[in-house]
Amino acid sequence: MAIQRMRINQRFLPHLVSVFTILPLLSHLTSAAPVGVCYGRVASDLPPPPAVIHLLQANGISRIRIFNPDPEALAPFSGTGIQLMIGIPNEIIPDLANDTVSASLIWLGSNIFTHISPSQVKYFAVGNEVLLNDPYYSPFLVPAILNLYRALQMLGLADTIKLSSPHAAAVLSDSYPPSAGAFDHNLTSVLVPLLKFLNETESPLMVNVYPFFSYVNNHPYVTLDYALFRSSAVEIDRDLEYTNVYDATIDAFVYAMEREGFSRIPVMVTETGWPTDGGDGAGAGNALDYNRNVVMRTKGNIGTPKRPGVGVEVFLFDLFDENGKTGVEFEKHFGMFRVDGIKAYDISFI
Ligand SMILES: *[C@@H]1O[C@H](CO)[C@@H](O)[C@H](O)[C@H]1NC(C)=O
Ligand SMILES: *[C@@H]1O[C@H](CO)[C@@H](O)[C@H](O)[C@H]1NC(C)=O
Ligand SMILES: *[C@@H]1O[C@H](CO)[C@@H](O)[C@H](O)[C@H]1NC(C)=O
Repeated sequence: MAIQRMRINQRFLPHLVSVFTILPLLSHLTSAAPVGVCYGRVASDLPPPPAVIHLLQANGISRIRIFNPDPEALAPFSGTGIQLMIGIPNEIIPDLANDTVSASLIWLGSNIFTHISPSQVKYFAVGNEVLLNDPYYSPFLVPAILNLYRALQMLGLADTIKLSSPHAAAVLSDSYPPSAGAFDHNLTSVLVPLLKFLNETESPLMVNVYPFFSYVNNHPYVTLDYALFRSSAVEIDRDLEYTNVYDATIDAFVYAMEREGFSRIPVMVTETGWPTDGGDGAGAGNALDYNRNVVMRTKGNIGTPKRPGVGVEVFLFDLFDENGKTGVEFEKHFGMFRVDGIKAYDISFI
């Protein structure tokens, strides 16, 4: 997770119509965009896999994101019907890039498909926030994705398993107002070839979106209400009305892609969440409000002001608190469930 840079001015106008008034209407027309959950495992006290699977099924969670393809994380999901986004660690990207397509084929076979059926895999997230966290690996990102893509093609899986790479919002040098959205100029040598691949393969741009960080780093300019979908004010950008940081961030990415010539790549949110403890604004009540709003917007295919009615698939962060996370205290407290399986707050995923 990287800290999001964002400036918001305080020019608010009265809020006229709630988007939620149209929610019941839309949900009958198209199938809802999926809500998944990230299963971070940087913790020493996690429940055993069968208990985790039971918890997911009992709560109607049918998609999860796993950050590393550890056999002990993957294998228990085999045959459960739960669909996976599987992370490919930053560290192995150069090897996948440098080696041949058949090496990628072998890697997929022995590290992934021996543990889980391809029919349960929806996405590979190749690296995580590579461009900012591990810039050394950046030049290898697209070549690694291309090798994996060709390997999936040889397996006949290139249409059912999508490849992309999650980015922090800080890959944008400008994100306010959303229409000013632009990628950091220094990163476009990697991002533009990536966008070209995503466009050609009808794969989504993956983004990690944390309005909590926007609030922590930019208040009073970003208010808690604007971060938590509670704002009764509207920000006007061109002719579009923004009521929250989540929409504004997603649309900043949409505008940034348009600036590079790509207008039809879908955005998916590969992480978003709110901590229950460890900092100003953290707390179970705020986390509930935040995640509940994200779920409602996703399920209702609300979309964003720039792409109204286009549901944005999301993976909520995080299933459990992660006591092994280092850094700022709140990083440990994104869990929606306690390790005993009890909800940390009354969130519903269906
Ligand atoms: C990738 O291959 C090139 C050419 O063989 C080599 O110079 C380079 O060191 C390799 N990089 C990595 C990270 O393996
Ligand atoms: C972009 O690269 C230039 C030249 O290498 C450097 O001076 C500048 O600080 C970089 N900007 C960012 C945001 O990293
Ligand atoms: C995106 O893909 C479409 C369909 O393949 C193609 O017509 C268009 O030229 C592509 N856009 C760019 C910027 O490559």
